[in-house]
Amino acid sequence: MRLPENGLDRDEVFRRIRERKAEDADWHGGRTFSLIYPASEEVDAVLAEANRLYVFENALNPFKFPSLRIMEQEVVAMTAALLNAPNGAGGTMTSGGTESILMAMLVARERARVERGVTQGVLLAPYSAHPAFAKAAHFLGLEHRQIPLDDDFRADLDAAAELIDDDTVVVVGSAPGYPHGVVDPIPELAALAAERGAAFHTDACVGGFLLPFVERLGRPVPPFDFRVEGVTSMSADVHKYGYCTKGASVVLHRNDAWLEHQVFLYGKWPGGLYGSPAVAGARPASPIATAWAVMSFLGEKGYVDLARTVMETTDRIQAEIDAMPQLHVWGEPVASVFAFGSEEIDVMAVNDVLDDRGWNLDRQLDPAALHMMISPKHAEVVEELVADLRDAVDNHGESRGAEARYA
Ligand SMILES: Cc1ncc(COP(=O)(O)O)c(C=O)c1O
Repeated sequence: MRLPENGLDRDEVFRRIRERKAEDADWHGGRTFSLIYPASEEVDAVLAEANRLYVFENALNPFKFPSLRIMEQEVVAMTAALLNAPNGAGGTMTSGGTESILMAMLVARERARVERGVTQGVLLAPYSAHPAFAKAAHFLGLEHRQIPLDDDFRADLDAAAELIDDDTVVVVGSAPGYPHGVVDPIPELAALAAERGAAFHTDACVGGFLLPFVERLGRPVPPFDFRVEGVTSMSADVHKYGYCTKGASVVLHRNDAWLEHQVFLYGKWPGGLYGSPAVAGARPASPIATAWAVMSFLGEKGYVDLARTVMETTDRIQAEIDAMPQLHVWGEPVASVFAFGSEEIDVMAVNDVLDDRGWNLDRQLDPAALHMMISPKHAEVVEELVADLRDAVDNHGESRGAEARYA
């Protein structure tokens, strides 16, 4: 394909975009899970306005755009407070969970190299950890070692103790993990890491803006944040349960001095000193502004209210699933992310029916499961979703063989 010779008429540009967009998944109607986290029309309007204000700015140079520097610092500080980071902690915003994780793994690798002389490091993460850890290991030249799961789908502690060694630069736990929504035994894994002088990272990309508010609702949440001794870094995505549009995550380090291993400073070129906090050079400004806007707009009360809606909706859906004798929820998910399966029927065939009705549930393997991640919007579609699920369980055919595919 080549550039259009004379450029298209503006109306034609948008006609073509809209025509293509019509084929996309219907997230406005609450029919997607995990990709988008719709909160409310009010929140959408705040996000759109903040996005519009910062479409053209570049966050690469905070001296030119001091408003972005201040907002980024405040997003990081508010997130640190939410996750009980101690005085002296530090962090930055990044483009998403994957970049936050990459930065935390880089810092762990560099600390182990400088402090303990580890040259060929190991990244020890549960089998259920997000692929971003495998990707980080691949990018950073670390050996990726996987901790098998116990019967509750949490990292198996005995296996972790067998697998850790003096080359381990970091141990990882998820709060919660994406596949089953369970929280790994963070205090025990962090203690194991500390014994070897290794870093410990809690991946709270999903839970960072959810578990603190679920806890405030008085529901049980296992220890996962900086209150756990031995947790040296955390990732928390504003663009998941922080309800921000995409491109906004926070990586936090217990000690801000460790940021020297993350921030890249370079001066040996004609352009003078170049500094960059994470992977990107030029950085979009909108994610900083939208993250600041939505966090400030919602505040503690807004997030607690949304967490209540999300948890009540989750309770309703899980109760309906449990009431179907063929289905059950796997493990003990702590919040609103969970997988359900069956020993009797083929849930992939069930999902074929749901697919045909416009739902977009992820399929999972090992064990075979369908995956849900509940956002506030789903409160409006619970009855329809459950009715379709019940119908699909009773009236499905053979599976069409669709692949389990996350991205
Ligand atoms: C537990 C967990 N960690 C990390 C990530 C990676 O986040 P991102 O897709 O923003 O890079 C995800 C994404 O779903 C996740 O569920």
